[in-house]
This record gives sequence, structure tokens and C-alpha cells, in this order.
Amino acid sequence: MSLKDLCPVLHFRDLGDERGKLVVIEGSRAIPFSIKRVFYIYDSDSTVVRGQHANRESEFVLINVAGTSKVRITDGKEEIIVELNKPMMGVYIPKMIWKDMYDFSPDSVLLVLASTYYDGNEYIRNYDDYLKEMRGDK
Ligand code: TYD
Repeated sequence: MSLKDLCPVLHFRDLGDERGKLVVIEGSRAIPFSIKRVFYIYDSDSTVVRGQHANRESEFVLINVAGTSKVRITDGKEEIIVELNKPMMGVYIPKMIWKDMYDFSPDSVLLVLASTYYDGNEYIRNYDDYLKEMRGDK
């Protein structure tokens, strides 16, 4: 499966009306997992690179609910870059996929939905270790 198919861009329904917009995301319906954790990243400037890890257990959906950012996603072979620039779009990132978030606009609020509670031990933070593991070297 290509990386684009593994990490699809998701388009959420906009239930807005003349009063404004409304986006609803229901776990295991609009996204492929039930949501255990929500966090958001803001006040990161355009020079910062966040993420820089892969997760053994966690699946994520990333949504810029305000502003814009970019996500570089790789499995060690292919690479895709997704610009998150609408509150009704997101990108799904399954387990064992490396991601970097960068190019944050000053007003960027990057919402992350996660399938797990936080566990720092499930993170792979060294890219060489990640590549070795993906190649089956260890
Ligand atoms: P970090 O993983 O570096 O954030 P990013 O994915 O944006 O690069 O997390 C920053 C700090 O916050 C780090 O000390 C771990 C802590 N943290 C939690 O305690 N719970 C969480 O759910 C997350 C995502 C991070």
C-alpha cells in the first residue's frame, strides 16, 4: 500500500449554517480509531520542527483547527507532505510512521486526536533506529 493510502487526508463534514461552521469528529466513525487523548500544539513558530518520532502503539489524526502547518510523513522509503490548512481536514497517521510538523503559522492551533493514553516508552525518537527497525535489522 502506498504511503498516501496508509495516511489518508480526511475531509470532515461541515455542519455549518448561517450561524457559523461546525465540524464533528466521532471516534471510530469519522476516523479509524476511538479517541483516548486529545492535545493541541500552538505558539510554535515557523522555524520549529516538532514531532520527529514514530509511535509503536499510537494512531493519530492531525487537524489545524486554526492557522496552517505542514506534516512530513515517511515510512523510511516514501515521503509525503501534507499541508493542514482547513479546520475540516485532517491526516491520519497509523502506528510506526515517522512524522515531522513544521511551518507553523503564527495563529496555528494543531489539534491531535490519539488512540492511546500517553506513554513515552512507545516513542521511537532516533531516525536511524526507526530506519533499522523498518528494514527489519533488529
Ligand atoms: P513531544 O512528544 O516532544 O511533542 P511533539 O509531538 O509536539 O514533538 O512532547 C512534549 C512534552 O510533552 C514531552 O515532555 C512529553 C509531554 N507529553 C505528555 O506528557 N503527554 C502527551 O500526550 C504528549 C503528546 C506529550
